[in-house]
Amino acid sequence: MDVLDLGELEATARQRLDQGVYDYVAGGADDEVTLAANTAAWDSIFLRPRVLRDVTKVDASTTILGTAVSCPIGVAPTAFQRLMHPDGECAMASGASARGCLMVLSTRATSTPADCFEAAPEGLRWYQVYVLNDRSRNERMIKDAVQAGISALVLTADTPVLGRRRRDVVNQFVLPPNLGGPSLELEPGEEGNLVDQAADVTFADIGWLRDISGLPVVVKGVVRGDDAAACVDAGAAAVWVSNHGGRQLDGCLPTAVALSEVVEAVGERAEVYVDGGIRRGTDVLKALAVGAKATFVGRPAVWGLATDGPTGVELVLKGLKGELKLAMALAGARSVDEVTSDLIAP
Ligand code: GLV
Repeated sequence: MDVLDLGELEATARQRLDQGVYDYVAGGADDEVTLAANTAAWDSIFLRPRVLRDVTKVDASTTILGTAVSCPIGVAPTAFQRLMHPDGECAMASGASARGCLMVLSTRATSTPADCFEAAPEGLRWYQVYVLNDRSRNERMIKDAVQAGISALVLTADTPVLGRRRRDVVNQFVLPPNLGGPSLELEPGEEGNLVDQAADVTFADIGWLRDISGLPVVVKGVVRGDDAAACVDAGAAAVWVSNHGGRQLDGCLPTAVALSEVVEAVGERAEVYVDGGIRRGTDVLKALAVGAKATFVGRPAVWGLATDGPTGVELVLKGLKGELKLAMALAGARSVDEVTSDLIAP
């Protein structure tokens, strides 16, 4: 049996990457309290497996906003992927597509949505949006993304201003001059760190994004039930529980803790997703049991990309899906529908 060793993969990626790039991905805000708490919080949830359920066949497939995916594990948006691999987002898209997984492309990508669709035409892809002060720039980016085949927008809500990442300050991390941000219309060498980011983003922007794109809008970065309900009231198709991988407000509660409050507040009105510290199939199982429809991984996919391009991305997604299926069998759940809240110990 293959065992996915994400620690080893990260160590290999670290050897291949510049220190500044590695730290940019690995690091979190301030003292990295939330970064560490995200992974630890999944470990503090315990399972109540069912026995004697005939698990000869276990199926991890599901749907996300009505579209079929091979498993409830997607690739979270992460920035500047050509820093980690020469083919960047195109390589990530190929790896995700080969495993039948959803990929979310970042606003701060070093490839356009059209590039990704050219590299892997069949994949399911969403587009993450930072609202910019110049909203006409957003409109152009989103029009291009829709034209390329993007099927939902993901509004990042937890970044009205950028968190303080100590490692990036120490390393004086900036984009190398040969990398631009085509989606952001950055020229190579232009400062890419949250250029023109709007601090005045509100719930009203959910409807605005839906109107200009004609696409469902997912709001990412929500950790409170009241905010989640307000997002749905404002027209969100789904709410994504996230603290930005511990990169924004340090001390923010871990997503594994926030998830149940959001699930309860949203009820049947919208889908709920979660990221942050998901490192094992058992973490995915726990997230589904608490009520998430899907989970996302950021750093693990990046370590796969840095290590072996699309093949590395596939290795991570295949490994996590295999672990999820094993965990489902051991917990007596043959389908994702059978992953219900009674699997969680109170
Ligand atoms: C970008 O979203 C980052 O977290 O660096």
